[in-house]
Amino acid sequence: MILKQQSLFEEKSYFGISATHTGGKGEVFHDWYPYLEGFSSSFVSSVFDKYLSNGKKILDPFSGIGTTPVYLTIKGVKSYYCEINPILQHLVSTKSNILKLDRISKKKIIQKINLIQSNLNQINSEQKNFQLDQSYKHLFNKSIFFEQSNYLRILKIKSFSNTIKNELVKSLFDVATYSCLLKASLLKRAGDVRFKTKKDLEKEKIPNIINLISNKLDLIKTDLEKTNKPKVTPKLICKNSKDLINIKSHKLDGVITSPPYLNGTNYFRNTKLELWYMQKINKEVSLRDFRNETITAGINDVSANIKKEIINEVKSLYEKLKKNSYDKRIPKMVSDYFYDMKIVLKGLKKQIKNNGIICIDIGDSIYNKIHVQTDEVLIKICSNLNLKLIDNIILRDRLSHSKVKLTQRLLVFKKNG
Ligand SMILES: C[S@@+](CC[C@H](N)C(=O)[O-])C[C@H]1O[C@@H](n2cnc3c(N)ncnc32)[C@H](O)[C@@H]1O
Repeated sequence: MILKQQSLFEEKSYFGISATHTGGKGEVFHDWYPYLEGFSSSFVSSVFDKYLSNGKKILDPFSGIGTTPVYLTIKGVKSYYCEINPILQHLVSTKSNILKLDRISKKKIIQKINLIQSNLNQINSEQKNFQLDQSYKHLFNKSIFFEQSNYLRILKIKSFSNTIKNELVKSLFDVATYSCLLKASLLKRAGDVRFKTKKDLEKEKIPNIINLISNKLDLIKTDLEKTNKPKVTPKLICKNSKDLINIKSHKLDGVITSPPYLNGTNYFRNTKLELWYMQKINKEVSLRDFRNETITAGINDVSANIKKEIINEVKSLYEKLKKNSYDKRIPKMVSDYFYDMKIVLKGLKKQIKNNGIICIDIGDSIYNKIHVQTDEVLIKICSNLNLKLIDNIILRDRLSHSKVKLTQRLLVFKKNG
C-alpha cells in the first residue's frame, strides 16, 4: 500500500529552499559550478541528522557536483558516489583531491593560482588550440555559440591550460574555465540550455571569459582556505549507478540522493560546451553515447533503437500516455525511466546493510495533462523490492511549464532485515 504524505512532520519549511541549488549559495565548494539540478549541503545535513545520524558509510548514486559526498567528507563520514557525466566526475574528483591536502600544501596551491592569475593577460600570446577548434567544427558544424573574441580566447586558454605542470592546479584552472563557458557564450540556462534572446543580449553584455575565470579562481582560493583536512576521502564506487548491482556489496548504512527528475531535462546536452572544452566529446565519442548510458529522463535520451521492458509498475501509466501523447517518445521516455531506476534501486538494495536507509529527493511531472507521479511509481517499485517506505515528506511546491501544481518530495525507505 502507498503511504501518501504519511510523514513524521509535514512542515515544508523544514527543508524548503535548501532542497534546491540556490539554497546552497555561499556554501563551501558549492558555487564552483552552477548546477541547477543540485541541492545544498544544508539539505544533506538535515537528511543525514534525521535519518542516518549513526551512519558511517553513505552513498550518493547521482552525485552531480558532489554535494553529498563532499559535505559528508568534511563532516568525517566516509562517502561513496556514482556520477556518469565526466565533467561532474572531474569536478568532484578535483574537490576530493583538494580535501586531501594539509594547510601548507593548500597554501602552495593558492600561490600557484596567484601566479596564474597574474599571467592571465598573456593568454593572448598563446597559440590557438588546433584540436579544440577542429572538434568544435566537427561537433557543432556551423552553430555559433560564442562571439568570435571569446571563442579565440577559449582556444588560447586551452593551450595555456596544457602548459600548467601541477596536475591539481591544472584541474582547478580547468574547473574555473568550464564553469564560465556558458556565461561567456551566446547560450543561457532556462530550464534547458538555449540561446540568449536579443533582449538578454541588450540587457547584459557578454563578459570577457578571462575576467570570469579570474573571479572564479578567487572564489576557489577562498574556499580552499575554509576547509581543514578531513580523516576520510570520497570514493567513486562506479561511474554508472546502473552498475551497482554488478559489484560486490559495500555494506553501506544508507543513501542520500536526488536522481534525475522525469521532467525532460537534457542533462548531457546542457553540458555540451563543457564536454567539448574538456574534449570528452569529439569525433569518437558523441553526446548520443552518453545519453544511451544515462538514466532516461529527457526527451533526447530516448532512443528508438534501444528496447527496454515496460515494467509492471508502469504499465497502466504507459498505456494512458500512449493514448494521449503528442510525441510518441513521451510514453517510451517514462517507461524507460522507471526501467532504469528499478535497476538502480536493486543496486542500492544490494549495496546497503539490513535496516539500511535510502533517502530519495524526487519530483513529479505532467505530460499532456497526465500527471506522472514519479514518487508513487518509485514507491511501488521499492515495495516490490521489499524496501519499506518509512517517510514521505513534501519538501516544496513546484509549478510545471503549464502552471500545474507539482511537488518535490523526500521518500525514505528501509531495507527489511
Ligand atoms: C538531480 S542531479 C543530482 C544533483 C546532486 N544532488 C547535486 O547536488 O549536485 C542527477 C545526477 O545524476 C546523474 N546521472 C544520470 N544518470 C546517471 C547514471 N546512470 N549513473 C550515475 N549518474 C547519473 C546526472 O549526470 C546528474 O548529475
